[in-house]
Amino acid sequence: MQKEFKRYTVTAALPYANGPVHLGHLAGVYVPADIYVRYLRLRNRDVIFVCGSDEHGVPITIKAKQEGVTPQDIVDKYHNIIKESFEKFGISFDVYSRTSAPIHYETASDFFKTLYEKGEFVEKESEQYFDEAANQFLADRYITGTCPRCGNEGAYGDQCEKCGSSLSPTELINPVSKLSGGKPVLRKTSHWYLPLDKHEQWLRQWILEEHKEWKTNVYGQCKSWLDSGLQPRAVSRDLDWGIPVPVDGAKGKVLYVWFDAPIGYISATRSIRPDWEKYWKDKDTRLIHFIGKDNIVFHCIVFPAMLKAHGDYVLPENVPANEFLNLESDKISTSRNWAVWLHEYLVDFPCKEDVLRYVLTANAPETKDNDFTWKDFQTRNNSELVGILGNFVNRAMVLTHKYYEGKLPQIGQLNDQEKEIIENIASIKSLIEENLEQFKFREALKEFMNLARIGNKYLADTEPWSLIKTNPEKVKDILNLSLQIAANIAILGEPFVPFTSLKLRNMLGIKKWSWDDAGKTDILPTGHQLNKPELLYAKIEDDVIEAQLKRLANIKAANAVATALVTPQKPNINYDSFSAMDIRTGVILEAEIVPKTKKLLKLTIDTGIDKRTVVSGIAEYYTPEQCIGQQVCILVNLEPRELKGITSNGMILMASDANGKLVFVSPTEKVKPGSEVK
Ligand code: MF3
Ligand code: ZN
Repeated sequence: MQKEFKRYTVTAALPYANGPVHLGHLAGVYVPADIYVRYLRLRNRDVIFVCGSDEHGVPITIKAKQEGVTPQDIVDKYHNIIKESFEKFGISFDVYSRTSAPIHYETASDFFKTLYEKGEFVEKESEQYFDEAANQFLADRYITGTCPRCGNEGAYGDQCEKCGSSLSPTELINPVSKLSGGKPVLRKTSHWYLPLDKHEQWLRQWILEEHKEWKTNVYGQCKSWLDSGLQPRAVSRDLDWGIPVPVDGAKGKVLYVWFDAPIGYISATRSIRPDWEKYWKDKDTRLIHFIGKDNIVFHCIVFPAMLKAHGDYVLPENVPANEFLNLESDKISTSRNWAVWLHEYLVDFPCKEDVLRYVLTANAPETKDNDFTWKDFQTRNNSELVGILGNFVNRAMVLTHKYYEGKLPQIGQLNDQEKEIIENIASIKSLIEENLEQFKFREALKEFMNLARIGNKYLADTEPWSLIKTNPEKVKDILNLSLQIAANIAILGEPFVPFTSLKLRNMLGIKKWSWDDAGKTDILPTGHQLNKPELLYAKIEDDVIEAQLKRLANIKAANAVATALVTPQKPNINYDSFSAMDIRTGVILEAEIVPKTKKLLKLTIDTGIDKRTVVSGIAEYYTPEQCIGQQVCILVNLEPRELKGITSNGMILMASDANGKLVFVSPTEKVKPGSEVK
């Protein structure tokens, strides 16, 4: 028997305020969470739906640095963009807060202090990477290097995005500072740790024994974390952006973003409800976290350990995490701009919020990664929403206006087909409920669409537009029943396609309604006056889809150009060919522009072997003055060449930077001219 709960606290992962939200966010977290909450509200359950912007963490300070603005500027900008996108898509949060809000600082600091005073942390000194040039410790994403598990060269200090491993900075091979590009050094620093190892036993029991009903992907990830043994986790960082660690002597230290962010759910609740405590502390509250799969460990292991250590809080009942959504077969990526941004979608597809909600739910990455394609988007719109749902409702409405001045005709004797339809409607309602209670949103949506399919088929089979000539009495039954189906669509569709539901309720003239009305076929009384029919959906033409595909193709081309700037490797040579090249270090003694040229410099170089003349095409990048005294590497046994009447005896080595400017390749320390480069 499932436990009965008095109320629900539903959270949706706080998105980082370092960029706008895209359809991957919507599909993975916010649409399913919103469907669930709208459903609970319709069932008259006491529910609070909380979210907000995650405004701390290194991705935000890195973005600020890239754009030359402050971290606060970044979070202000994106908080507003994100908040607006969610509102426009009908994501019906009770509160969309932010972690830079004073109430959040207070809540997170108090939470930390409670754990600190209860002795729930261990303080430990360790060696961590430090960038001497930037005079800063390199937490998390400030450091990149090669992943020790899969060899990906672009792994971050906290995670490898290629293989999904969680990492600590000291595990990276060839670590590089994101701040200066230099090699970091190790330095001692002290931090507070949450000893997850001490929590392992109850976590095992609680998840592996008591929550076998969690989704397979969630349960599996938890099991593998628990089986490999939990380690203490640092909850503070040496950074200047974040919530200061609220204990004496913690100057320059802030709470780790993954410590403060989930507390954001609590502070968001506090910000709107004086009675917030019952949503977090009463054991009759059902806490549900909607997240993406990269957040599983934090919501199933770390945050529950924090809540337990605090002592007063309930633990999550379920954590329905989704897998990822790809876009046209490629991983969605903010840095590669491979995404469909919600605020841009709304410009290209005004009033089509429900179309995207529908397609993302129909294709939700519930059990495996899934793919969004514009073709599928078009097909689902044109053949399902327009062709089935819209078409059915429109026919029923138009015919009722045509034959009965928009008044609901009386229903009479029903035949077997009609009795079966009535039974199906009732069972569809319970199937939607069952699936939603189990977080099976795709299945629930399929059942919802079956309503429209049944209605559409009913009209196609009975053809009331022909029957009106031979059996007008039967047409009354058909249109009455069809409009009852339409009313069911309006009510049961509210969680999935809320804009459509509202429009349809208005068309049908349904003022007062409840979820319990659905599943029945007497929602609309005989004689009930319908309003004017309007089309619920419009066809999406090929050129619109082609424009989207073209936009993506352009992005792909731009990305390809960016990668192609690195010339592919040349064919292998043998060692002899390499050692035949005599490269030496040298110093430029004199430099002058070759007369009547813009690009050439005549250089006199001390090669250690001799002082010789080399003509080099670098006058665009260096003045003669800048060259004098410069250490260089020079290929001394290159055949002499005549250039503008001057004999050039060798070639100096240059590299081109990102803008194509040539820069000297020279020893990083002083070496005497004539040393062999090998
Ligand atoms: N900002 C995180 C992400 O986008 C999610 C934070 S969820 C919270 O991956 F629990 F920490 F709030
Ligand atoms: Zn990896």
